[in-house]
Amino acid sequence: MNLSERDKLYNWHPYTQHKTAANFPAIVKGEGALLWDENGKEYIDAIASWWVNPYGHSNKIIADAIYEQLTTLEHVLFGGFTHDKAVLLAEKLMTILPNNQKKLFYSDNGSTAVEVALKCAMQYNYNKGNKKTKIIAFEDAFHGDTFGAMASSGISFFSEAFKGSLLEVIRIPVPTKENEEQNLQNLKDLVKTNEYAAFIFEPLVQGAAGMVMYSSEILDKMIAICNQNNVFTIADEVMTGFGKTGKTFASDYLNNKPDMMCLSKALTGGTIPMAITTFTQEIFDGFYDDDTNKAFFHGHTFTANPTACAAALASINLLQTEAIQNNITRVHERHLAFELKIKSHPKVKTTRVLGVIFALEIKTETQESYYGTMRNKLYNFFIENGVVLRPVGNIIYILPPYIISEEQLEKVYAIVEQAIEIV
Ligand SMILES: Cc1ncc(COP(=O)(O)O)c(C=O)c1O
Repeated sequence: MNLSERDKLYNWHPYTQHKTAANFPAIVKGEGALLWDENGKEYIDAIASWWVNPYGHSNKIIADAIYEQLTTLEHVLFGGFTHDKAVLLAEKLMTILPNNQKKLFYSDNGSTAVEVALKCAMQYNYNKGNKKTKIIAFEDAFHGDTFGAMASSGISFFSEAFKGSLLEVIRIPVPTKENEEQNLQNLKDLVKTNEYAAFIFEPLVQGAAGMVMYSSEILDKMIAICNQNNVFTIADEVMTGFGKTGKTFASDYLNNKPDMMCLSKALTGGTIPMAITTFTQEIFDGFYDDDTNKAFFHGHTFTANPTACAAALASINLLQTEAIQNNITRVHERHLAFELKIKSHPKVKTTRVLGVIFALEIKTETQESYYGTMRNKLYNFFIENGVVLRPVGNIIYILPPYIISEEQLEKVYAIVEQAIEIV
């Protein structure tokens, strides 16, 4: 049996119906934007392995930082201790985060970063004796799969089985030019009820919904409404963070900065799972008290793992290099050129680009479901042709490692053009 077959014996994969799933390619090597399976087949990782890997697979600089840390101090508990990498990383983040962000809380993944933000919004109010327990979120949002994150997410079939056991979340439509006035009015009406602790959103781009984009101007207005009514705003930058939108954070496009930010994915350059939730001083102060019970009683065993912190430091240093910044601009410009070429194709309904993110919607007769027939056909076509792309329904998106070569990017575009013809 090869690896692919042996995998099936024990491993349970995410978002997978194993009864109908084929054997999965077993990847044995990665370098730059490329992956190789056990049979030597090459794949271009055009989605940066679920958006985590901007600087390329097996990046030597990050690997060296990890090795050095592993052989100096691999881990120490963060309860009652600190360490140099957590201090250095915090100091570094303070130089790139919006300047209202003053405190950091470490956890393990995007979902836990969101859980921390939601819990803080709720406990802040509890500590002050306010009854604000509900959350506002966008339709079709995705904030993760743990309970609070899932409750805030709007992709219904992900959470269908848990209805009734979830946080109370009201969902509002993603803003468009057409619904702007209505949307803002809705939000005003909601926040006036004094029942909502926070408004959580994926700033400017809803990744899992299929790279759905909306304007920073309207988000600014929504944040202003929340600010005026003491509802915390949480920017879930798990996908958008660290350069994806062309700026370090999507929140950098905003005039009104969020109260909290959730970071993960590219934080460690796609090497070690880690997440950070960041806060304003005001939020931290809501827990700062002589009363021990007002503390934030939340933690994870691997909180602020030194090896992950070392990987994050090396990754942020890479992000700040001229070479990586030039790559972000290059990929963005190539996306724009491809968009211009493809957008008038008779089968293309719409296209959109922000930073290194490109998305294209294929015209369909009927509403295509998330993991529907069209999606599966496209996905299989891409994998057969050695390109890792995971369409969402009828939406194909590209979010490559920033270091992807021109030639590799051209191949990805060419495969996308061919794929449109087969559906
Ligand atoms: C915006 C956003 N938030 C949260 C998450 C959840 O992150 P994780 O899968 O690391 O729990 C994701 C994952 O795709 C995401 O895109």
